[in-house]
This record gives sequence, C-alpha cells and structure tokens, in this order.
Amino acid sequence: MAAIALAPRFHRIGSPAAARYSVEAWFGTTGLGHTVATEFRVRKAAPLDASAIAHVYVNSWRTSYVGLLPDSILRGMSEVRETLFWWTALCSPRSQAVTLVVQDPDGKVVGFLSAGAERAQGPARRAEVYTLYLLESHQRRGFGSWLLRAATERLRDLGFTSLMVWVLAGNPARTFYESLGAAPMAARTIRMGGRSIQEIAYAWPELALAQAPASRGRSSV
Ligand SMILES: CC(C)(COP(=O)(O)OP(=O)(O)OC[C@H]1O[C@@H](n2cnc3c(N)ncnc32)[C@H](O)[C@@H]1OP(=O)(O)O)[C@@H](O)C(=O)NCCC(=O)NCCS
Repeated sequence: MAAIALAPRFHRIGSPAAARYSVEAWFGTTGLGHTVATEFRVRKAAPLDASAIAHVYVNSWRTSYVGLLPDSILRGMSEVRETLFWWTALCSPRSQAVTLVVQDPDGKVVGFLSAGAERAQGPARRAEVYTLYLLESHQRRGFGSWLLRAATERLRDLGFTSLMVWVLAGNPARTFYESLGAAPMAARTIRMGGRSIQEIAYAWPELALAQAPASRGRSSV
C-alpha cells in the first residue's frame, strides 16, 4: 500500500502559497483510493466538539496562566464541568454568536474561539471575543490569527462593526492583539480566588482592522 503523507503544510499567514490552495490541495489519496485530509481546518463548532473544547480550554489555562491566576483556580478547573457548559451552549447557540474550532489533519481540535455581542454595555454592534485558546503545542503557528480572521468575517455577516476583547494585564497574549492592530481601551479589576486581577480591554474600532492577512488554511464558517 502506498505511504500516506499526512504532514501538514505550514505556511505563514499571508504567504503567497496560501493563495494557491484549492480543494484538491487539501486532500491526499491513499493507495486504496480513500481520501484523507492533510490539512488543518477552521470550522464552526458543533455540540460533539464540547469535550474537545473543554480539554483545550482547561489545558490552555493551566499552561498559560500559571503565576497570573491563583493556583486554586487552575487546580479547580474541571473538563467535565466545562464539557457540560460547552455542550449546553452549542446545543442552543445564540443567533448573534459564533464558536469556531481549528482541527488538525486527524480531526483533533487544537484550538477554539467564541465571540458575540459585547457582554458589558458598549456601542451598539460592537462584538466581543469571549474566549480564544490553543493547546500550548499549537501556539505561535498562526492559528490564533486564523481563528480571529474567520470569526471577524462571520461577525461582519451578523452585522457587527467593531470588536473588543478582555485580556489579563500580565498575559503576553496582549502582544498578539497588538500585533493584529488592537489598541488598549479600558482597564478593570476583577476578583478571582481571593485575589485582585487586572484586566485590559483591547478594541478594534472597525471590524475590518482585526482581519489578519489571508490565512494558510481552509475555513468553512
Ligand atoms: C494568544 C493566542 C490565542 C495567540 O494565537 P497564536 O496562534 O499563538 O498566535 P499567532 O501565531 O497567530 O501570532 C501572531 C503574532 O502575535 C504575537 N504573539 C502571539 N502570541 C504571543 C505571545 N505569547 N507573546 C508575544 N507575542 C505573541 C506575535 O507577534 C505573533 O507573530 P510571530 O509568531 O510571527 O512573532 C495563543 O497563543 C494562546 O492560546 N495563548 C494562550 C491562551 C491565551 O492567552 N489566550 C488569550 C486569552 S485573551
């Protein structure tokens, strides 16, 4: 049987190679004629993704927020509880919200994003990124930018015109949002695990400004 080359093809965002992708480029064929996916893919989340999203969420918090959040909060996280939350949310999605996942060539979810109407009172038609998390193994490979770009397209279709996100003040991910054109807009202090935690709000005054250059992969959102 012919060997199956499953190595994902990575191209930096904006690479000219990204523009060359076609449907055929996303699939390889085994010696038996079966089609196999060979690429990462961004798609809408479904209820059956709930446990995978919960896994990414809990693991990303535990690897990213050490020292930023109290250990008791990180230890107390539960994939079962998060699965229940995401299952419920994805079974009855709000019409003004979007949840996307990025999956690897084997179909494993390695990151996700959720967004929708801003939770606090803000300008009408401003959306908020509620969650954006990748497994540590898949960070700094362009997937966060890709998820954000796909989400802004969907949010624009839903009628939103601007975007914001809350970030822990000590989170290096602030550089991620800054690199995508967001500017600090506000600050607040929240209480978690008995500690005061500083958060910064970043905003894009226009949704289009949050659009990273063309992505390397296929989106179906
Ligand atoms: C933040 C996160 C979603 C960004 O996604 P990503 O795929 O890792 O980021 P990208 O590869 O698209 O990065 C684009 C640019 O953002 C900047 N950037 C991203 N993550 C960064 C970090 N941790 N520190 C500094 N700069 C960062 C870099 O300039 C990067 O470009 P470069 O890699 O060519 O230098 C991801 O790293 C993550 O899940 N982090 C842990 C959880 C978290 O903090 N989520 C955000 C909650 S508000």
